[in-house]
Amino acid sequence: MRRGANPVTLEDCTMVIFGGTGDLTKRKLAPALFNLHIEGKLPPGFSMIGVGRKEKSSNQYRSELAKAISEHSFETWDEEAWAPLAEKIDYLQADIEEPASYPRIREYIAEHNTSRNPLGNELYYLAVSPHLFPPLAENLGLEKTSHTGSFTQGWRRVMIEKPFGSNLETARSLNKALCATFDDQNIYRIDHYLGKEMLHNILVVRFINTVFEPLWNNTYIDNVQITVAENEGIGNRGSYYDRTGAMRDMIQSHLLQMLAVVAMEPPAKASLDEVINNKLSLISAVRLWPENGPARNVIFGQYEGYNQENDVKENSTTETYVALKLAIDNSRWRGVPFYLRTGKLLQEKQARVTIQFKKPAGHHSAAISAGLDVENGNLLNLLTLKMQPSEGIVFQFNIKKPASVDEIVPATMDFCQQCAFQINSPEAYELLIADAIKGEKARFSSWEEIEKAWQLIDGIYECYGLSGLKSHLYKPGTWGPAEAEDMLSAQGLQWWV
Ligand SMILES: NC(=O)c1ccc[n+]([C@@H]2O[C@H](COP(=O)([O-])OP(=O)(O)OC[C@H]3O[C@@H](n4cnc5c(N)ncnc54)[C@H](OP(=O)(O)O)[C@@H]3O)[C@@H](O)[C@H]2O)c1
Repeated sequence: MRRGANPVTLEDCTMVIFGGTGDLTKRKLAPALFNLHIEGKLPPGFSMIGVGRKEKSSNQYRSELAKAISEHSFETWDEEAWAPLAEKIDYLQADIEEPASYPRIREYIAEHNTSRNPLGNELYYLAVSPHLFPPLAENLGLEKTSHTGSFTQGWRRVMIEKPFGSNLETARSLNKALCATFDDQNIYRIDHYLGKEMLHNILVVRFINTVFEPLWNNTYIDNVQITVAENEGIGNRGSYYDRTGAMRDMIQSHLLQMLAVVAMEPPAKASLDEVINNKLSLISAVRLWPENGPARNVIFGQYEGYNQENDVKENSTTETYVALKLAIDNSRWRGVPFYLRTGKLLQEKQARVTIQFKKPAGHHSAAISAGLDVENGNLLNLLTLKMQPSEGIVFQFNIKKPASVDEIVPATMDFCQQCAFQINSPEAYELLIADAIKGEKARFSSWEEIEKAWQLIDGIYECYGLSGLKSHLYKPGTWGPAEAEDMLSAQGLQWWV
């Protein structure tokens, strides 16, 4: 599924990582580059420049990256394999808040290209704090007009980390700044959940299986649950996180993308534009559940001890957990609640979607009149699509307990992707970097999706006055505040883990 006219080839290029000394580069980007290199998926003339504020030599920088890769890559560390990639990596010290740095950055890249990348293709990765995105985009643009008028003879693409803005207004202004420098088709807006294999697999499971496709609607589905749980706290991201919270950090991006893929209408053809349009229509139809008021349909939580984290305001009310009950206002989904939850410092790291099917009509009376003993009154069919930490699909169905004549118990069919294919899915960042080098945009968010998602989140805040909503405290290592459990138990439901 492709959009835009970029050719799908592995052309030589220079990748410039702004934030080349940061946590994201060390934990994700450098290991992804190493894995791509080992797998022969980088172009032969690939090279990289890391940009940061700290003073250091390129040799020091390479050693730091080697250490980070050996700690974080799922490929076994291999000094010999690393050496040819390390040779292609340079470091540039520059303060990107200083407009005066940009001519120097440009000059450095030009020199680097002369010796390493005659095609002049450049891939910029903005791995810096979100408040630096707008000045970076503007200064890259200024440099374009004030110097040579055009950058290079090759293509220029930019990968930009989430969060894309902090509300609709800031997202629009960031987009404007980026579009002043780059054509939209060269802007790769990252939502790394779109780089996860299982998210794309959901479309296949839904649409290419006769046993699921006809059931994917409000006649057969009782409720849908989407969980993205993290077992770590906010780490050193206090100043960003305290201004943002779980709703804007996670729901606006990852969970809405998951919801859109789970619930969108089938695309008539496998074109990226059609998938995006169907996701946009779906997001436009999302509402907060219309009954019982916002305090029952939005639960904010905060882990105990959050206020003592670095760079968090005293008495901060920022939510580190949110659970939502949403409705989708279209004929396929009317009446089906979609429960979304995400949080920090929860019991385990986990990302999954669970589809709970309706109980078979009259099951109890039929089972009882047949003399069957239904264990816990539970005759559910559950389909769980597991994205993290392991990938797989689990289907729960009902059987008669072996060796009994009158007991019905749940059984599961469990597909473990890694067991079946003996390969780890590539890390999301591997796929995303490889796609950007190839000019493939299917795994990136479009501007229209981001805009629609912010409209929804801002709308929910404004309409329901969420800014004043209390955050309930929860203990680290649990599944969040009790109020989130109550939201489901009031309906006779439970969160599935
Ligand atoms: N970390 C993650 O797992 C993760 C996951 C998803 C998204 N993200 C996003 O990725 C981005 C980076 O996050 P991070 O965790 O890597 O942040 P970080 O650890 O704080 O790193 C920030 C980087 O920006 C550089 N920097 C800061 N100010 C600069 C300036 N004025 N001039 C030049 N360089 C400057 C720093 O250089 P020095 O070290 O030299 O100061 C460092 O390389 C953020 O947008 C974040 O939301 C991160």
